[in-house]
Amino acid sequence: MIIAPSMLVADFARLGEEARALEDAGADWLHWDCMDGHFVPNLTHGALPVRACREHSSLVFNAHLMISQPLRYLDGFVEAGADIICAHIEAEDDAREFLEAVRHAGRRPALAISPDTPADRVAELVPLLDMITVMGVHPGFAGQEFIEGTVEKTAEVRRLIDESGRQVHIQVDGGVGTENIRRLCEAGADVIVSGSFVFRHPDGYAAAISQLRALE
Ligand code: DX5
Ligand code: ZN
Repeated sequence: MIIAPSMLVADFARLGEEARALEDAGADWLHWDCMDGHFVPNLTHGALPVRACREHSSLVFNAHLMISQPLRYLDGFVEAGADIICAHIEAEDDAREFLEAVRHAGRRPALAISPDTPADRVAELVPLLDMITVMGVHPGFAGQEFIEGTVEKTAEVRRLIDESGRQVHIQVDGGVGTENIRRLCEAGADVIVSGSFVFRHPDGYAAAISQLRALE
């Protein structure tokens, strides 16, 4: 199980320290929630904090682009050092064109599907993907209630991937904690994003990450 804390819930006044603390606490990846205030009703950041933290962490950086035009900003995330670059299939830009551009840039392409988007929307794109992100909440904010249908949707995506015969990660993003991680792993998820559960855990990042790992 790959644990990817969402930096959206980190202390933005100390991002470099937070990146190092998460690495020390046993995180595998860092998840960067980039929002444009258009694709989602929230405005967070672009590639700047990703670039700023790149030299402070050896972890895999996964940029989650909740933006309408991911192709327009792709170069910035490549230059910032994002390893896995994920756009939403619901974005304005053509998903296939985006995935091919990420691969051409030498990075790992991923697609996210929001709760209202059926799993089979990505079926024909599986051959172009390194990862599919199944949203556990409507994109835009951390701390939201987990949508229970995400478990079954994760199993559907796993079936699609198994039929393709390819090695593709399934990341579940949003509302994940100790009460649902085991069901998500059993359904086929192998990457878990966690914002609130990790950053707001009373016993700190390492305890939170250990608790999640103990349930995988
Ligand atoms: C939501 C983001 C998620 C979210 C995760 O739009 O994509 O990464 O910040 O935070 P929690 O784990 O608190 O739902
Ligand atoms: Zn995210």
